[in-house]
Amino acid sequence: MQMIELIKTRRTIRRFKQEKISLEILTDLVDCGRLAPSASNRQPLAYHIVQKEELLEPVFRTLSWAGYIAPRGNPGEGEKPAAYIVVLVRKGYAGSSAQHDAGAAIENIILAAWSHGIGSCWLGSVKRKELTQVLNISEEYEIDSVIALGYPAESPVTEESEDDIRYYKDEDDVLHVPKRPLKSILRID
Ligand SMILES: Cc1cc2nc3c(=O)[nH]c(=O)nc-3n(C[C@H](O)[C@H](O)[C@H](O)COP(=O)(O)O)c2cc1C
Repeated sequence: MQMIELIKTRRTIRRFKQEKISLEILTDLVDCGRLAPSASNRQPLAYHIVQKEELLEPVFRTLSWAGYIAPRGNPGEGEKPAAYIVVLVRKGYAGSSAQHDAGAAIENIILAAWSHGIGSCWLGSVKRKELTQVLNISEEYEIDSVIALGYPAESPVTEESEDDIRYYKDEDDVLHVPKRPLKSILRID
């Protein structure tokens, strides 16, 4: 897929096929994050790949899914992510654009994933203390976000909406994601 098509077709995925992602691909996704823009090129981020079977469920338990439709948006049994990339920020970088850096890196990662046909969900709703313990994360870092990854087992659709931005599921369990129309957010000259 061309880059513009990747950007426009990417949707958050919360139901995944139970198919492994190779460590080679996961490592390359982190490499794509590493090369993202960084304010003053400080590069305060680090990444923790989780792919070992016995760690997947403990990590899953620290995450909250699809707040607007909870619990209907939770991945069910047999639909959970195949891997995670936990994005870490070096402590002491708060207020120094670290969140922008994390956003840029995460977007690189999720678009690179989509280029392999891998779906993702960017999760900010994370029990950070618990996850720090589960993964034995060094005290030098705090958790910014978690990226859940896996081959998609759903195909969400977008629609245009001026007002109601809450995603919803229809009677066939298809996720609809409203996006504000271009004409309502764009001014030229
Ligand atoms: C900073 C950030 C935090 C998010 N946190 C969560 C989360 O905790 N749980 C979740 O299910 N989705 C989360 N999302 C995904 C959004 O719900 C999703 O991007 C939004 O509904 C638009 O859908 P789209 O990604 O398909 O365009 C988060 C997205 C961003 C950018």
